[in-house]
Amino acid sequence: MAVSSAPGKVYLFGEHAVVYGEPAVPCAIERRATVEVSARSDGRLRVDAGDLTLDGFTVEYGGDGAPDVDVPQSLVQAATGYVDGAVAQARDAADSPDVGFDVAIESAIPLGAGLGSSAAVAVAGIDAATRELGIELSTEELAKRAYRVEREVQSGEASRADTFCSAMGGAVRVEGDDCRRLDAPNLPFVIGYDGGAGDTGELVAGVRALREEYDFAADTVEAIGDLVRRGERALDEGDIAELGRLMDVNHGLLSALGVSSRSLDAMVWAAREAGAHGAKLTGAGGGGCIVALDESEASRTALGYTPGCVESFRAELDFEGVRRED
Ligand code: PMV
Repeated sequence: MAVSSAPGKVYLFGEHAVVYGEPAVPCAIERRATVEVSARSDGRLRVDAGDLTLDGFTVEYGGDGAPDVDVPQSLVQAATGYVDGAVAQARDAADSPDVGFDVAIESAIPLGAGLGSSAAVAVAGIDAATRELGIELSTEELAKRAYRVEREVQSGEASRADTFCSAMGGAVRVEGDDCRRLDAPNLPFVIGYDGGAGDTGELVAGVRALREEYDFAADTVEAIGDLVRRGERALDEGDIAELGRLMDVNHGLLSALGVSSRSLDAMVWAAREAGAHGAKLTGAGGGGCIVALDESEASRTALGYTPGCVESFRAELDFEGVRRED
């Protein structure tokens, strides 16, 4: 048996614009997905993903890949798509195409809410499954293989940001294929979650259409790129106040691109009014999570009373990426 965990992430800056080659800065957070893997000799794959959804479910499937339990297809796909991909990558890396696995996933990262749950499952899954087969992959190789999984499940529309960040930990910079770790101070993140999820594919397509139709939208994408470069400088200087100001501007630019929502805006304003340095939506938008910077408990408490917010929590920057748990 092998067990690995990998962190979720927030976007400090740059989501959506990263799709058009602008830089982005995602940061790993102290909320992890843990994947336990045991090889089995009958070639079947059994996935227990109870913690990935509020309801919990178990899926068992083999030969033809069809699940033999009756659960909503979207949940099966969400859990099994990334696990299937991780298993395929491990089989490929170990040159063992016929090996089966029992896989159990526990995750403290809300699904589809902009916190990188699928990337964390893919990274931890590949690490655990390859180690179970006696192979140790480098962190870079894990990030690469996890990116392939995301790209395949998301029909080609993934950037390297989530998977690289989850594998490496800390704050990272992603611009096209160029991915690297950044020096960063400890960042006091507060996260607000509206209980929902945006459809990443639809939101990315919406921004693409807007950008093709209006010059202002193309200019907005470029402005986000400029802002990210300013943000990198502030990160390097440990200037938390400036990081907060830039997060506020980044949220405004994302709103202009049409990817915010009433509950995301309400949470952003609640955190700002409670004294956060800044706040913005994180990830694709449409619903899900916001991230604020605040050393005090004030914005977390304020979010607790904000209509539309179902959960608020602190999550420091996690300097550790994928890690062995067995
Ligand atoms: O919601 P998430 O965590 O999947 O982030 C999506 C970020 C986008 O920039 C909108 C898309 C991408 O693949 O970079």
